[in-house]
Amino acid sequence: MQLIMEHLSKQFKNKIAVRQIDAVLSEGIYGFLGANGAGKTTLLQMICGIIEPTSGEVKVNGENNIQMGERFRDILGYLPQEFGYTPGFTAKDFMLYIASIKGLEPKYAKRKTIELLRLVNLEKETNSKIRTFSGGMKRRLGIAQALLNDPKILILDEPTAGLDPKERAYFRNIISEMSKDKIIIISTHIVSDIEYISDQVLVMKKGDFILQGTPEELLDKVKGEVWSCRIPHKKWVGFESRYCVVNSHVLANDVDARIVSLEAPIDGAVNVEPTLEDLYLKCFSDEMEAGE
Ligand SMILES: Nc1ncnc2c1ncn2[C@@H]1O[C@H](COP(=O)(O)OP(=O)(O)OP(=O)(O)O)[C@@H](O)[C@H]1O
Ligand SMILES: [Mg+2]
Repeated sequence: MQLIMEHLSKQFKNKIAVRQIDAVLSEGIYGFLGANGAGKTTLLQMICGIIEPTSGEVKVNGENNIQMGERFRDILGYLPQEFGYTPGFTAKDFMLYIASIKGLEPKYAKRKTIELLRLVNLEKETNSKIRTFSGGMKRRLGIAQALLNDPKILILDEPTAGLDPKERAYFRNIISEMSKDKIIIISTHIVSDIEYISDQVLVMKKGDFILQGTPEELLDKVKGEVWSCRIPHKKWVGFESRYCVVNSHVLANDVDARIVSLEAPIDGAVNVEPTLEDLYLKCFSDEMEAGE
């Protein structure tokens, strides 16, 4: 299976949300990492064929996704960022309802509903109304509905929004288990959600992929640039605006800080092992300063 984005662009009036994206995806897990407004949702909606690109196209095994129509929807699973749940439905009703929209056989739909509610740990809530669900439970139901047709292409737009740390860990495990024969795209701005499970991480900024590679390849890009240091209080003033500060802990005599910088920010700074969060903050520190 091959999913190709060819010079994909989307413009809303005078706002370019996605600019000339090219990418080739095959089976595996892809983490699309980007700040708010980077263009993740717009890009995913074009991949799903929900919105048309202004220029360029998405191809699945050489065929245009929109022209494929139903044949494309049959192999697609999608969890939108904003998902409308019907509060009066039970989890089971909701799953069967989505299954009918997808045109699945009732018998298959019933079997799959039981299997998937178990997979996302909602087995006990099968007959509970969605209005009684927490945000995390709704998100898990959203993940389950995206899997109803056993999709070959699974697109999850911020699937972990609202999940607590235990639910996040559980989510990572179920996604990595099912990735063998699927193309899975996960968009997020939470680095830890994709750091350990992605085969490829694509960092999106202002509508473009600015970095792409395996987590190890991306970590290599900040190797030698992450520092742990102690900064005296009087020097700390102004430090934050001059450097990309990942963490800081104010202590009695000085500030214990983690900083991304090409050169040692202060005498005695020690190089430490980078994480993807360091890279992310390096990529987006200019936007944070500008308050975007
Ligand atoms: N329908 C629309 N009309 C006009 N502008 C839009 C529309 N949809 C998105 N945009 C703009 O396109 C840019 C990208 O938005 P998009 O929602 O794709 O970003 P995102 O990376 O998903 O952000 P978030 O992390 O907040 O979900 C933003 O500047 C947004 O304001
Ligand atoms: Mg979005």
